[in-house]
Amino acid sequence: MTHINIVEVGPRDGLQNEKQPVPLATKLELIQRLAASGLSTIEAGAFVSPKWVPQMADSLAVLQALDLHGTINYPVLVPNDKGLDAALDAGVREIAVFGAASEAFSQKNINASISDSLQRFESVMKRALAANIRVRGYVSCVVGCPYEGTVAPRKVAEVAKALYEMGCYEISLGDTIGVGTPNTVTDMLDAVSEAIPMSRLAGHFHDTYGMAIANIHTALQLGVHTFDSSVAGLGGCPYAQGASGNVATEDVVYLLHGLGYRTGIDLAALSDTAWFIAGALGREPGSKYAKARGARAG
Ligand code: HMG
Ligand code: MG
Repeated sequence: MTHINIVEVGPRDGLQNEKQPVPLATKLELIQRLAASGLSTIEAGAFVSPKWVPQMADSLAVLQALDLHGTINYPVLVPNDKGLDAALDAGVREIAVFGAASEAFSQKNINASISDSLQRFESVMKRALAANIRVRGYVSCVVGCPYEGTVAPRKVAEVAKALYEMGCYEISLGDTIGVGTPNTVTDMLDAVSEAIPMSRLAGHFHDTYGMAIANIHTALQLGVHTFDSSVAGLGGCPYAQGASGNVATEDVVYLLHGLGYRTGIDLAALSDTAWFIAGALGREPGSKYAKARGARAG
Protein backbone atom coordinates (compact mmCIF):
# COMPACT_ATOMS: atom_id res chain seq x y z
CA MET A 1 0.00 0.00 0.00
CA THR A 2 1.38 3.39 -0.95
CA HIS A 3 1.93 5.93 1.81
CA ILE A 4 0.64 9.46 1.25
CA ASN A 5 2.17 12.31 3.25
CA ILE A 6 -0.14 14.80 4.86
CA VAL A 7 1.24 18.18 5.89
CA GLU A 8 -1.13 19.54 8.52
CA VAL A 9 -1.30 23.31 8.11
CA GLY A 10 -4.20 24.07 10.48
CA PRO A 11 -2.17 25.74 13.25
CA ARG A 12 -0.62 28.09 10.66
CA ASP A 13 -2.77 28.47 7.54
CA GLY A 14 -5.89 27.76 9.58
CA LEU A 15 -5.36 30.03 12.54
CA GLN A 16 -3.66 32.89 10.64
CA ASN A 17 -7.07 33.93 9.40
CA GLU A 18 -9.09 33.88 12.63
CA LYS A 19 -10.54 37.28 13.55
CA GLN A 20 -10.27 36.66 17.30
CA PRO A 21 -6.80 35.84 18.64
CA VAL A 22 -6.56 32.16 19.52
CA PRO A 23 -5.05 31.67 23.00
CA LEU A 24 -1.64 30.04 23.14
CA ALA A 25 -2.98 27.20 25.30
CA THR A 26 -5.61 26.38 22.64
CA LYS A 27 -2.98 26.36 19.89
CA LEU A 28 -0.79 24.03 21.94
CA GLU A 29 -3.64 21.65 22.73
CA LEU A 30 -4.56 21.62 19.03
CA ILE A 31 -0.99 20.73 18.04
CA GLN A 32 -0.72 18.09 20.76
CA ARG A 33 -4.01 16.48 19.61
CA LEU A 34 -2.93 16.57 15.95
CA ALA A 35 0.32 14.85 16.88
CA ALA A 36 -1.58 12.24 18.90
CA SER A 37 -3.81 11.62 15.83
CA GLY A 38 -0.74 10.44 13.93
CA LEU A 39 0.18 13.53 11.91
CA SER A 40 3.95 13.61 11.52
CA THR A 41 4.31 17.05 9.92
CA ILE A 42 2.48 19.94 11.53
CA GLU A 43 3.13 23.50 10.33
CA ALA A 44 3.26 25.25 13.68
CA GLY A 45 3.55 28.97 12.94
CA ALA A 46 5.07 31.76 10.89
CA PHE A 47 7.93 34.17 11.55
CA VAL A 48 6.32 36.97 9.59
CA SER A 49 5.70 40.58 10.51
CA PRO A 50 3.24 40.74 13.45
CA LYS A 51 1.87 43.92 11.88
CA TRP A 52 0.91 41.96 8.79
CA VAL A 53 -0.35 38.80 10.49
CA PRO A 54 -0.90 39.37 14.23
CA GLN A 55 -2.40 35.89 14.60
CA MET A 56 1.09 34.38 14.21
CA ALA A 57 2.82 36.74 16.66
CA ASP A 58 3.11 34.02 19.32
CA SER A 59 4.91 31.56 17.02
CA LEU A 60 8.07 31.62 19.14
CA ALA A 61 6.06 30.74 22.26
CA VAL A 62 4.37 27.90 20.33
CA LEU A 63 7.69 26.47 19.19
CA GLN A 64 9.25 26.79 22.63
CA ALA A 65 6.55 24.48 23.99
CA LEU A 66 7.17 21.77 21.35
CA ASP A 67 9.77 19.00 21.21
CA LEU A 68 11.66 20.09 18.08
CA HIS A 69 14.01 17.10 18.26
CA GLY A 70 11.41 14.33 18.37
CA THR A 71 9.82 12.36 15.54
CA ILE A 72 7.34 15.08 14.57
CA ASN A 73 8.36 17.76 12.12
CA TYR A 74 7.15 21.30 12.95
CA PRO A 75 7.98 23.60 10.00
CA VAL A 76 7.35 27.36 10.09
CA LEU A 77 6.92 30.00 7.38
CA VAL A 78 9.81 32.39 6.84
CA PRO A 79 9.55 35.29 4.35
CA ASN A 80 12.99 36.89 4.75
CA ASP A 81 16.30 36.93 6.65
CA LYS A 82 14.69 38.45 9.72
CA GLY A 83 12.25 35.53 9.84
CA LEU A 84 15.12 33.10 9.42
CA ASP A 85 16.98 34.68 12.35
CA ALA A 86 13.90 34.03 14.50
CA ALA A 87 13.59 30.46 13.21
CA LEU A 88 17.27 29.77 13.94
CA ASP A 89 16.90 31.18 17.46
CA ALA A 90 13.86 28.98 18.01
CA GLY A 91 15.83 25.90 16.89
CA VAL A 92 13.49 24.75 14.09
CA ARG A 93 14.56 21.94 11.75
CA GLU A 94 12.49 23.02 8.76
CA ILE A 95 11.21 26.26 7.29
CA ALA A 96 9.08 27.16 4.29
CA VAL A 97 9.60 30.14 2.03
CA PHE A 98 6.52 31.32 0.19
CA GLY A 99 6.30 32.94 -3.21
CA ALA A 100 3.56 33.35 -5.78
CA ALA A 101 2.96 32.86 -9.48
CA SER A 102 1.07 36.16 -9.63
CA GLU A 103 2.78 39.57 -9.37
CA ALA A 104 -0.18 41.28 -7.72
CA PHE A 105 -0.54 38.60 -5.05
CA SER A 106 3.19 38.63 -4.37
CA GLN A 107 3.02 42.39 -3.74
CA LYS A 108 -0.04 42.16 -1.50
CA ASN A 109 1.18 39.16 0.50
CA ILE A 110 4.88 39.84 0.99
CA ASN A 111 5.36 43.37 -0.35
CA ALA A 112 7.77 42.27 -3.08
CA SER A 113 7.75 41.51 -6.79
CA ILE A 114 8.22 37.87 -7.74
CA SER A 115 11.80 38.52 -8.79
CA ASP A 116 12.66 40.44 -5.60
CA SER A 117 11.07 37.70 -3.51
CA LEU A 118 13.20 35.06 -5.24
CA GLN A 119 16.30 37.11 -4.41
CA ARG A 120 15.23 37.28 -0.75
CA PHE A 121 14.61 33.54 -0.71
CA GLU A 122 18.04 32.85 -2.19
CA SER A 123 19.68 34.54 0.77
CA VAL A 124 17.37 32.76 3.27
CA MET A 125 18.00 29.45 1.54
CA LYS A 126 21.80 29.67 1.57
CA ARG A 127 21.86 30.43 5.30
CA ALA A 128 19.22 27.79 6.12
CA LEU A 129 20.93 25.02 4.19
CA ALA A 130 24.29 25.95 5.74
CA ALA A 131 22.62 25.55 9.16
CA ASN A 132 21.25 22.11 8.13
CA ILE A 133 17.66 23.31 7.98
CA ARG A 134 15.38 21.84 5.34
CA VAL A 135 13.52 24.32 3.18
CA ARG A 136 10.16 23.77 1.56
CA GLY A 137 8.93 26.17 -1.11
CA TYR A 138 5.35 27.34 -1.58
CA VAL A 139 3.97 28.80 -4.78
CA SER A 140 0.62 30.56 -4.32
CA CYS A 141 -2.06 31.28 -6.92
CA VAL A 142 -1.14 28.28 -9.06
CA VAL A 143 -4.47 28.34 -10.89
CA GLY A 144 -5.98 31.73 -10.21
CA CYS A 145 -5.26 35.00 -8.43
CA PRO A 146 -7.76 37.17 -6.56
CA TYR A 147 -6.32 40.26 -8.30
CA GLU A 148 -5.19 39.02 -11.74
CA GLY A 149 -7.61 36.18 -12.55
CA THR A 150 -6.33 33.14 -14.42
CA VAL A 151 -2.66 32.29 -13.89
CA ALA A 152 -0.71 30.64 -16.72
CA PRO A 153 0.70 27.17 -15.93
CA ARG A 154 3.99 28.33 -17.53
CA LYS A 155 4.33 31.06 -14.89
CA VAL A 156 3.75 28.55 -12.07
CA ALA A 157 6.39 26.25 -13.56
CA GLU A 158 8.87 29.14 -13.78
CA VAL A 159 8.54 30.13 -10.10
CA ALA A 160 8.42 26.53 -8.88
CA LYS A 161 11.57 25.70 -10.87
CA ALA A 162 13.41 28.71 -9.44
CA LEU A 163 12.59 27.60 -5.87
CA TYR A 164 13.50 23.98 -6.60
CA GLU A 165 16.82 24.91 -8.19
CA MET A 166 17.60 27.10 -5.18
CA GLY A 167 17.41 23.99 -3.00
CA CYS A 168 13.81 23.56 -1.80
CA TYR A 169 13.36 19.82 -1.24
CA GLU A 170 9.66 20.03 -2.11
CA ILE A 171 7.40 22.54 -3.82
CA SER A 172 3.88 22.95 -2.48
CA LEU A 173 1.52 24.24 -5.15
CA GLY A 174 -1.15 26.44 -3.61
CA ASP A 175 -4.57 26.95 -5.10
CA THR A 176 -4.90 29.84 -2.70
CA ILE A 177 -8.45 30.82 -3.65
CA GLY A 178 -9.70 27.33 -4.48
CA VAL A 179 -10.72 28.05 -8.07
CA GLY A 180 -9.07 25.00 -9.64
CA THR A 181 -10.93 22.11 -11.22
CA PRO A 182 -9.43 18.79 -12.36
CA ASN A 183 -8.71 20.08 -15.89
CA THR A 184 -6.94 23.28 -14.81
CA VAL A 185 -5.05 21.42 -12.08
CA THR A 186 -3.95 18.83 -14.65
CA ASP A 187 -2.68 21.55 -17.03
CA MET A 188 -0.79 23.19 -14.19
CA LEU A 189 0.77 19.91 -12.94
CA ASP A 190 1.70 18.92 -16.51
CA ALA A 191 3.61 22.20 -16.88
CA VAL A 192 5.32 22.07 -13.47
CA SER A 193 6.29 18.41 -13.77
CA GLU A 194 8.27 19.18 -16.93
CA ALA A 195 10.68 21.02 -14.61
CA ILE A 196 10.33 19.13 -11.31
CA PRO A 197 9.64 15.43 -10.62
CA MET A 198 6.06 14.76 -9.41
CA SER A 199 7.57 13.09 -6.33
CA ARG A 200 8.85 16.53 -5.26
CA LEU A 201 5.51 18.28 -5.63
CA ALA A 202 2.77 18.73 -3.05
CA GLY A 203 -0.82 19.84 -3.53
CA HIS A 204 -2.17 22.65 -1.33
CA PHE A 205 -5.83 23.04 -2.14
CA HIS A 206 -8.19 25.53 -0.58
CA ASP A 207 -11.82 24.48 -0.83
CA THR A 208 -13.64 27.69 -1.72
CA TYR A 209 -15.73 26.09 -4.47
CA GLY A 210 -15.82 22.56 -3.04
CA MET A 211 -13.35 21.25 -5.66
CA ALA A 212 -10.42 20.37 -3.40
CA ILE A 213 -11.19 16.67 -3.01
CA ALA A 214 -11.70 16.29 -6.76
CA ASN A 215 -8.42 18.12 -7.36
CA ILE A 216 -6.56 15.92 -4.88
CA HIS A 217 -7.91 12.81 -6.59
CA THR A 218 -6.67 14.16 -9.91
CA ALA A 219 -3.24 15.06 -8.52
CA LEU A 220 -2.96 11.59 -6.93
CA GLN A 221 -3.59 9.95 -10.28
CA LEU A 222 -0.88 12.12 -11.80
CA GLY A 223 1.59 10.93 -9.15
CA VAL A 224 1.53 13.60 -6.42
CA HIS A 225 1.97 11.90 -3.04
CA THR A 226 1.99 14.82 -0.60
CA PHE A 227 -0.97 17.01 0.31
CA ASP A 228 -1.39 19.95 2.66
CA SER A 229 -4.64 20.19 4.58
CA SER A 230 -6.13 21.75 7.64
CA VAL A 231 -8.03 20.03 10.44
CA ALA A 232 -11.72 21.05 10.44
CA GLY A 233 -11.06 22.91 7.15
CA LEU A 234 -9.74 25.91 9.06
CA GLY A 235 -8.16 28.77 7.26
CA GLY A 236 -7.81 31.10 4.37
CA CYS A 237 -5.32 33.78 3.52
CA PRO A 238 -5.54 37.32 4.93
CA TYR A 239 -4.28 38.67 1.60
CA ALA A 240 -6.76 36.73 -0.56
CA GLN A 241 -10.24 38.06 0.20
CA GLY A 242 -12.95 35.45 -0.07
CA ALA A 243 -10.57 32.48 0.02
CA SER A 244 -11.99 29.83 2.30
CA GLY A 245 -10.11 27.33 4.38
CA ASN A 246 -7.86 24.55 3.25
CA VAL A 247 -9.43 21.25 2.41
CA ALA A 248 -10.18 19.50 5.72
CA THR A 249 -7.60 16.92 6.75
CA GLU A 250 -10.26 14.47 7.89
CA ASP A 251 -11.99 14.57 4.46
CA VAL A 252 -8.64 13.98 2.74
CA VAL A 253 -7.79 11.07 5.04
CA TYR A 254 -11.24 9.54 4.48
CA LEU A 255 -10.65 9.73 0.71
CA LEU A 256 -7.14 8.29 0.95
CA HIS A 257 -8.07 5.39 3.23
CA GLY A 258 -11.05 4.65 1.01
CA LEU A 259 -8.71 4.45 -1.98
CA GLY A 260 -6.44 2.04 -0.08
CA TYR A 261 -3.59 4.44 0.70
CA ARG A 262 -1.84 4.54 4.07
CA THR A 263 -1.45 7.80 6.01
CA GLY A 264 -0.62 6.69 9.56
CA ILE A 265 -3.48 8.88 10.78
CA ASP A 266 -6.22 7.78 13.17
CA LEU A 267 -9.34 9.23 11.56
CA ALA A 268 -11.50 9.03 14.69
CA ALA A 269 -8.93 10.88 16.80
CA LEU A 270 -8.54 13.46 14.03
CA SER A 271 -12.28 13.99 13.85
CA ASP A 272 -12.38 14.55 17.63
CA THR A 273 -9.59 17.10 17.15
CA ALA A 274 -11.68 18.88 14.51
CA TRP A 275 -14.55 19.12 17.01
CA PHE A 276 -12.15 20.33 19.70
CA ILE A 277 -10.79 23.26 17.65
CA ALA A 278 -14.16 24.09 16.10
CA GLY A 279 -15.65 24.20 19.62
CA ALA A 280 -12.84 26.47 20.80
CA LEU A 281 -13.62 28.80 17.88
CA GLY A 282 -17.37 28.66 18.53
CA ARG A 283 -18.53 26.85 15.41
CA GLU A 284 -18.92 23.45 13.76
CA PRO A 285 -16.04 21.80 11.90
CA GLY A 286 -15.90 22.68 8.20
CA SER A 287 -15.49 19.06 7.13
CA LYS A 288 -18.09 16.62 5.86
CA TYR A 289 -16.43 13.78 7.77
CA ALA A 290 -16.42 15.35 11.22
CA LYS A 291 -20.01 16.53 10.81
CA ALA A 292 -21.15 13.08 9.67
CA ARG A 293 -19.40 11.37 12.57
CA GLY A 294 -20.58 13.91 15.12
CA ALA A 295 -19.01 15.32 18.26
CA ARG A 296 -18.45 12.01 20.05
CA ALA A 297 -15.50 12.88 22.25
CA GLY A 298 -14.56 16.32 21.09
P1 HMG B 1 7.63 44.92 4.76
O1 HMG B 1 6.76 45.88 5.45
O2 HMG B 1 7.98 45.17 3.33
O3 HMG B 1 8.96 44.59 5.59
O4 HMG B 1 6.92 43.48 4.87
P2 HMG B 1 10.18 45.50 5.96
O5 HMG B 1 11.41 44.65 5.75
O6 HMG B 1 10.09 46.85 5.30
O7 HMG B 1 9.97 45.69 7.54
C1 HMG B 1 8.86 46.39 8.06
C2 HMG B 1 8.67 46.04 9.54
O8 HMG B 1 8.38 44.64 9.67
C3 HMG B 1 9.92 46.30 10.37
O9 HMG B 1 9.46 46.59 11.69
C4 HMG B 1 10.58 44.95 10.38
O10 HMG B 1 11.43 44.76 11.49
C5 HMG B 1 9.39 44.01 10.45
P3 HMG B 1 9.31 48.10 12.21
O11 HMG B 1 10.67 48.72 12.01
O12 HMG B 1 8.25 48.75 11.33
O13 HMG B 1 8.86 47.92 13.63
N1 HMG B 1 9.67 42.68 9.90
C6 HMG B 1 9.46 41.52 10.56
N2 HMG B 1 9.02 41.26 11.81
C7 HMG B 1 8.96 39.97 12.16
N3 HMG B 1 9.31 38.93 11.34
C8 HMG B 1 9.75 39.17 10.11
C9 HMG B 1 9.85 40.52 9.67
N4 HMG B 1 10.25 41.08 8.52
C10 HMG B 1 10.14 42.41 8.67
N5 HMG B 1 10.09 38.15 9.32
C11 HMG B 1 7.06 41.09 5.04
C12 HMG B 1 7.50 42.32 4.27
C13 HMG B 1 7.47 39.89 4.21
C14 HMG B 1 7.75 41.06 6.38
C15 HMG B 1 5.51 41.16 5.25
O14 HMG B 1 4.92 41.40 4.01
C16 HMG B 1 4.95 39.91 5.84
O15 HMG B 1 5.20 39.57 6.99
N6 HMG B 1 4.12 39.16 5.04
C17 HMG B 1 3.60 37.88 5.48
C18 HMG B 1 2.21 37.69 4.95
C19 HMG B 1 1.70 36.34 5.37
O16 HMG B 1 2.15 35.75 6.34
N7 HMG B 1 0.71 35.84 4.59
C20 HMG B 1 0.09 34.58 4.87
C21 HMG B 1 0.99 33.41 4.60
S1 HMG B 1 1.10 32.98 2.88
C22 HMG B 1 -0.26 31.94 2.61
O17 HMG B 1 -1.12 31.82 3.46
C23 HMG B 1 -0.31 31.14 1.35
C24 HMG B 1 0.05 29.67 1.56
O18 HMG B 1 -0.81 29.05 2.51
C25 HMG B 1 -0.04 28.91 0.24
C26 HMG B 1 -1.36 29.16 -0.50
O19 HMG B 1 -2.43 28.92 0.06
O20 HMG B 1 -1.26 29.59 -1.64
C27 HMG B 1 1.48 29.52 2.09
MG1 MG C 1 -2.82 28.30 2.06
